[in-house]
Amino acid sequence: MRTWALPPFFLAYFLSLATCGATTWSSPPHKKTITPKVFIIGMFTDEGESWSSIPEFNVLEKNITVPGFSPLFPQAHCTADGNICQLVTGEAEINAAATITALVHSPDFNLTQTYFLIAGIAGISPKFGTLGTVTFARFAVQVGLQYEFDAREKPDNFTTGYVPQGSFSPDEFPQELYGTEVFELNENLRQFAIRMAKKGRLADDEPSQTYRTNYASNPAFAAGAAPPSIVACDTATSDQFWTGALLGAAFEDTTKLFTNGTGTYCTTQQEDNATLEALLRGALTRRVDFSRIIIMRTASDFDRPFDGETAAANLFLMSPGFDISIKNIPAAGVPVVMGILDGWKETFEKGLKAGNYVGDIFGTLGDVPDFGPGNVFSGGRAPFTRRSLRRRLSRTGRVG
Ligand SMILES: *[C@@H]1O[C@H](CO)[C@@H](O)[C@H](O)[C@H]1NC(C)=O
Ligand SMILES: *[C@@H]1O[C@H](CO)[C@@H](O)[C@H](O)[C@H]1NC(C)=O
Ligand SMILES: *[C@@H]1O[C@H](CO)[C@@H](O)[C@H](O)[C@H]1NC(C)=O
Ligand SMILES: *[C@@H]1O[C@H](CO)[C@@H](O)[C@H](O)[C@H]1NC(C)=O
Ligand SMILES: *[C@@H]1O[C@H](CO)[C@@H](O)[C@H](O)[C@H]1NC(C)=O
Repeated sequence: MRTWALPPFFLAYFLSLATCGATTWSSPPHKKTITPKVFIIGMFTDEGESWSSIPEFNVLEKNITVPGFSPLFPQAHCTADGNICQLVTGEAEINAAATITALVHSPDFNLTQTYFLIAGIAGISPKFGTLGTVTFARFAVQVGLQYEFDAREKPDNFTTGYVPQGSFSPDEFPQELYGTEVFELNENLRQFAIRMAKKGRLADDEPSQTYRTNYASNPAFAAGAAPPSIVACDTATSDQFWTGALLGAAFEDTTKLFTNGTGTYCTTQQEDNATLEALLRGALTRRVDFSRIIIMRTASDFDRPFDGETAAANLFLMSPGFDISIKNIPAAGVPVVMGILDGWKETFEKGLKAGNYVGDIFGTLGDVPDFGPGNVFSGGRAPFTRRSLRRRLSRTGRVG
């Protein structure tokens, strides 16, 4: 409805604007921008709350409601000085992408120098770790982004029902790329995070100790039977929460294939590629720095059964690692956060040089990926406009 008869509170508001010298019509009054040094990203309640009862810092001193965040987790939380902030995205790829997009474009935050610590729980391959193990990824691979047969209808000579898009067999590199298949992160930053995390005291408990002994009978699963530790290995994203030796093996192969042999699948989760894609788009307009991202995943369950257990039992009789996986988020993560703050002036303000390629499979931020078909933007940074982007992609013939 359009009317000139404004209700009294509108008149009062307009009058207050007209009489307040500092306010203009084009820029409404705005609260002070927060410039975090570290932003911690969790995916659900327990991951977020794991940061609430630590002695080192208190992220509940300042709450900021951010339009576009999940209705279940509408606020970012920060320390009073704004140095450390934390949010919860909501689970799986859609929630992660939507929340992080809202954050990146929020006028309440200046994120140009912010370090992002993606800190959540995950499934783990017993070849690389156990319940409570803390992993740091260089690659995040979107293994679910493929064609899929029900395994009962797949061609007999296929090892799995998953086939890369545009391809004709499971082991053929994807012929059709969407751009989110693989992200590569700053390797030097990952090594720093691993050094810091090793200063933490990891939680372990009796139920997890008892459960992991089941994996001892298979030498390939020695890491699954050993105590939790800090491990460098890569992470696989899919909205599907999969389980079993066969899908585990299939996605090990997908990770190798998509990263041209460099990536090592060890954890399984439902968000990281989505979070990274939203951050990558923010990096393209220089709102965030893509070389300032850490993925830390702590293991809550195994991605596959021990010998003699069924895949169904592995999924439905949930292994008992949830408690220690949540505890180990701050156990390993606090030293990482404090390390960045302590080294801010000397090192982290200006940034830690990567040494390796950092970005996505298209080469969107410039530079040439060490996986995939190379830079699809003629070797440079992606242009901002959609028209010129489409033209370049069709010219390279690399995108379906
Ligand atoms: C911020 O929100 C949390 C709950 O999410 C609450 O416990 C805390 O007291 C709030 N802090 C302030 C300063 O209101
Ligand atoms: C954001 O923060 C950086 C570093 O503190 C500063 O150099 C830059 O001017 C800020 N940008 C805006 C738009 O305030
Ligand atoms: C499966 O067999 C078909 C022909 O029967 C062949 O074209 C295809 O390359 C084979 N695929 C694999 C993965 O061996
Ligand atoms: C997902 O992100 C990881 C980095 O965490 C990257 O290695 C992987 O290529 C990404 N996969 C997709 C499909 O985007
Ligand atoms: C990765 O492997 C694919 C398929 O074999 C190949 O086309 C591509 O050139 C390779 N990329 C790099 C950077 O080696």
